[in-house]
Amino acid sequence: DDGSGRRVFELTAQTGESELLPGKKTPTWGVNGAFLGPTLRVRRGQKISVSLTNKLPESTTLHWHGMHLPAEMDGGPHQMVRPGETWNPQWEIAQPASTLWYHPHPHQNTADHVSRGVAGLFIVEDDEADRAGLPRDYGVDDIPLILQDRAFDDDGSIDLRGASFLQSLAGVGSPGVLGDKILVNGTYNPHVEVSTSLVRFRLLNGSNARSYNLAFTDSREFHLVAQENGLLEQPLPLRRLQLSPGERAEIVVAFKPGEKVVLRSYPPELGLSFPTKRFGGGEDTFDMIEVRAKSRLAASAPLPGRLRGAQAAIAVPADARVRTFDFNSTVINGKGMDMSRIDEVCPAGKTEIWEVSGDAEVVHNFHVHGLTFNVIDYDGKKPDAWLRGPKDTVRVPPGGTMRLAVTLPPYTDPKTPYMFHCHILRHEDVGMMGQFTVV
Ligand code: C2O
Ligand code: CU
Ligand code: CU
Repeated sequence: DDGSGRRVFELTAQTGESELLPGKKTPTWGVNGAFLGPTLRVRRGQKISVSLTNKLPESTTLHWHGMHLPAEMDGGPHQMVRPGETWNPQWEIAQPASTLWYHPHPHQNTADHVSRGVAGLFIVEDDEADRAGLPRDYGVDDIPLILQDRAFDDDGSIDLRGASFLQSLAGVGSPGVLGDKILVNGTYNPHVEVSTSLVRFRLLNGSNARSYNLAFTDSREFHLVAQENGLLEQPLPLRRLQLSPGERAEIVVAFKPGEKVVLRSYPPELGLSFPTKRFGGGEDTFDMIEVRAKSRLAASAPLPGRLRGAQAAIAVPADARVRTFDFNSTVINGKGMDMSRIDEVCPAGKTEIWEVSGDAEVVHNFHVHGLTFNVIDYDGKKPDAWLRGPKDTVRVPPGGTMRLAVTLPPYTDPKTPYMFHCHILRHEDVGMMGQFTVV
């Protein structure tokens, strides 16, 4: 508390050294530590103040991915913090319970800074969602899993270039470095012990470029209860779930005493053919984490049929304005990112239809700052049930089109833009990003 009722978070972006692989010392970056950063937990209605000090050797930012807030607090490329400086954004948490995250967003340099280790979770809680009946004892039956891949050089340092011959064959559309090692919450070869019959996992795909197609190795059923921006109206039974970079999902999984099961990523459906499928990670399988249930499990409350605190679907007015975003190679609507150009000027609080079309042979996804959207249709069809919740990031159908119902932020600022972009960080860095203001 800073004396004015604001909750204060003191964050320092810093360099360090981590033993990510056994016996190797890796130079890393983190927030308040050597690698990754603390989970920030806030409540709807709370006023918060962040003090971010940059002790890194380069200018950076921290962007609050998924947060609804004024553009100048957003931590995008217009809020650069130089080495030695402190940035102090303040805002009020004005959105439902959800699993958000933070990561750097420096112009043309995001992939590097995220690879080096700067990222963390930002969890929003609210009274209504507290009563949804879901497991919510953080670290006990409510467990965050930050899923990332990394490539390492022989000396243990993180490979930031990924300029392999095979990747260069994929040309300008190359997604950047795809790692062959998986880290979960910064741990290689991880396991987690659980002690309750139901466990909620908050999954973040915090990778630069890799998509995961997640399932348990015994293909057990689990329930999807939330997407990026909040709870679903009812738990959705699934056996597989795909997450592109930046996407989040909350799932609830049942365990029996003493059992062990692995959460695995199977080859993701990228909708591409060779070679871009292969160089986009479309043929790769990884064990993500082993879950070990204790020999005695505390009985959890049964999963409710409907979830309190869920968000209603966005209602689209018949005369909603339509904007189009055409993804091609590494540009949107034929233009690369220009910090001084505003691409779209949008009316505060209005609901619009944003129509996004994809490139047939390059994998992309679409993320919009400062707001929540619903997928209206995907590749000409009603979206799969697992794509119908409140979202802020979604894979773009290759060679197809999707329509999103977008409710614009209420915060007007004719000068400071929010970003929309591909969340494959190399694409973002080479210009697959645009800017919108809200007036
Ligand atoms: Cu998570 Cu503009 O990004
Ligand atoms: Cu964002
Ligand atoms: Cu892309």
